[in-house]
Amino acid sequence: MNNPKILVTGSGGQIGTVLVNALREKYGEDQVVASDLKPSTSQGLFVQLDITDSEALDAALSDHKITVIYHLAALLSSKGEENIHLTWDINLLSYLKLLDIAKSNGIKKIFFPSTIGIYGQSTPKQNTQQHTSFEPETMYGITKYTGELWSAYYNKKYGMDIRSIRYPGVISYQSRPHGGTTDYAVDIFFEAVEKGKYECYLSKNTKLPMIYMPDMIRATLMLMEAPKDDLTIDMSYNVTGFSVTPDSLHQEIKKHIPDFEVTYKPDHRQQIAESWTESIDDYYAIKDWAWSPKFDIATMTRDMLSHITVPEES
Ligand code: SER
Repeated sequence: MNNPKILVTGSGGQIGTVLVNALREKYGEDQVVASDLKPSTSQGLFVQLDITDSEALDAALSDHKITVIYHLAALLSSKGEENIHLTWDINLLSYLKLLDIAKSNGIKKIFFPSTIGIYGQSTPKQNTQQHTSFEPETMYGITKYTGELWSAYYNKKYGMDIRSIRYPGVISYQSRPHGGTTDYAVDIFFEAVEKGKYECYLSKNTKLPMIYMPDMIRATLMLMEAPKDDLTIDMSYNVTGFSVTPDSLHQEIKKHIPDFEVTYKPDHRQQIAESWTESIDDYYAIKDWAWSPKFDIATMTRDMLSHITVPEES
């Protein structure tokens, strides 16, 4: 394909903020149109867009002659439980409309992020395989799993080229996540630097798969650039970096900030975390597009702490 003209929905979120810059660096400033419900706070092409507004989406695609969409707009696992019908509308119905609008605009290539939230109690917790049991317990998980099925259906039935990764929790210093269950793994770093202590809403030994933002961006671009014929997964690829518990992150951060204290006060997110798996087998990503993460818990922690600074007193 010639240089793609890209639309990123949900560009103001944790991943969008970083992905838009990475895409602009790779394909050129003018090749990437960011879009979000909220006005943009950064430079560059931007369309303010409510993702449930199909006409506005259709107009944005044709106005900017878009050829590829990265569809990040979604409500995450914890926030999504507050209004499950709204979560269904934003995460799934809007995606289905986007698929049809893309199809009628001749756009075949779409990135649709899925999640470890599609797993449930019946999924084996260790080394979770690509093909396994899916009984998600959050509306977020239900919408993302259903979205995977629609993606595979459109790929097979209409020759679309929808690609997807089941994102683990994403750890980043550039932007903070909101409304997820894995948010603690970012908050803990900011609170360690800013306050020297952190109260964690998950229990000490709750283990979840994570990935560091640079690896996640790399994985996303690798998948989107991979030759189509090499791809054997129509739904969404398992991908992981490493697994952590709040305690293992605490101990790792203590190597740099020895007095850092963590206390535990599990809330409703504990139940969500316990319904997910602890580690992921990403065999197909390794086999099909040579995936391998560069960061582990130690190198990620060092890098995170080198980028987070104590805010100046005002
Ligand atoms: N980070 C997401 C969440 O916690 C999982 O994909 O909801």
